[in-house]
Amino acid sequence: MTKIQKMDINKSIAEFNRAKQHIASGVNSPVRAFKSVGSNPVFVDKASGAYITDIDGNKYIDFVCSWGPMILGHAHPRVTQAVKKAAEKGTSYGAPTIYESLMAEQINKMMPHIQLVRMVNSGTEATMSAIRLARAYTRREMFIKFEGCYHGHGDSFLIKAGSGAITLGLPDSPGVTQGTAKDTLIARYNDIESVKQLFEQYPDKIAAVIVEPVAGNMGVVTPQDGFLQKLREITKANGALLIFDEVITGFRLAKGGAAEYYGVTPDLVTLGKIIGGGLPVGAYGGKKEIMQMIAPDGPVYQAGTLAGNPLAMAAGLETLRIIDEDADFYKKLEQKAKKLADGISASAKQNGISTVVNHCGSMMTFFFSKLDAINNYKQAIQSDTKLYAKYFQSMLNQGIWLAPSQYECTFTSAAQTDNDIEWTIQAAEITFKNL
Ligand SMILES: Cc1ncc(COP(=O)(O)O)c(C=O)c1O
Repeated sequence: MTKIQKMDINKSIAEFNRAKQHIASGVNSPVRAFKSVGSNPVFVDKASGAYITDIDGNKYIDFVCSWGPMILGHAHPRVTQAVKKAAEKGTSYGAPTIYESLMAEQINKMMPHIQLVRMVNSGTEATMSAIRLARAYTRREMFIKFEGCYHGHGDSFLIKAGSGAITLGLPDSPGVTQGTAKDTLIARYNDIESVKQLFEQYPDKIAAVIVEPVAGNMGVVTPQDGFLQKLREITKANGALLIFDEVITGFRLAKGGAAEYYGVTPDLVTLGKIIGGGLPVGAYGGKKEIMQMIAPDGPVYQAGTLAGNPLAMAAGLETLRIIDEDADFYKKLEQKAKKLADGISASAKQNGISTVVNHCGSMMTFFFSKLDAINNYKQAIQSDTKLYAKYFQSMLNQGIWLAPSQYECTFTSAAQTDNDIEWTIQAAEITFKNL
């Protein structure tokens, strides 16, 4: 049996101690603290293509991809060049630039159902703004979200939330008032009856249903046959809007996102991650008739000092152009992901480790679970997080950078080579033999 050497991360340990002196919890976003896997966070020095190098000089194959944005890999020469060129002309003006129009045109070209768009600075802002708009448009106050779905840290979404909130066992956050929480209704993912019941219980009160079309924040959970279509039908029949939160899936599953992948057109879409090419960005958009309600043409207020920032637009636009130029982009990404998913699950099976592998396009999660399938939050949270932590640590020690939580995605990027995938499968094989 190959013995796995622990990586030397002494500099990261020292830096985390320093960070804790002045940064709340030592990190600027909770999952980065590696709390649920019980280890010290690894501090990054640099990244290039498929690889990350930490401050102790260890190199890793990256399957976190900055939690989704780095679909092309890190420091893609064209993206870096575009950002440099933009930065040389100044970093922010608080006035319109051509970059913003080019970005909006590119989004509309790839996602024609986004007739009008608004750029914001994060996925959180996108979902908060989309809900405000849906409420204004329908003149209703309640909305439905799904257990285990994460839509950023806006107050009204921190109810049965996924991502770091599940990882840390805080799906409902203190500080969210009861007044806010009462307008957020919770349904079960892949359970259309639970949605129907809420519409029956609150007739003419529900402004929208917001959903991650492929859930990525309770681990990957894919929509079962007809689930998204039925959401489309039920929202339409009840005069509510359907919002696809495509902050992860947008430009990851297909050029047209999950809407194209599943052939279901929502009224509004929220975007983030990939459209910033690694810079801070979000966006929301959709039907013209609804988006026209935004200020100053309409009465719904929403603004941002740095919204449509030229560096973020340059990085995002170049990223989208590179994707758009390659007819086989998603096919190649998916083939790589399939090879990884098949390889690791075969190895788990051979070594008697029970896993459920949920996989869609280039997103996947290996749940350490004895269940036959995972289709919702209740099933997802039965996973063996202690075993995941061991798997994570062993993979990290072999130079494989996975999400430090069972309830996140493993992403493939265009920069990873067949060799990287094979190496990762081998590392998993060694891990399973040692677990
Ligand atoms: C589906 C989804 N929506 C919204 C967000 C919030 O985005 P941000 O972290 O940019 O605020 C995330 C973040 O992971 C997400 O996965």
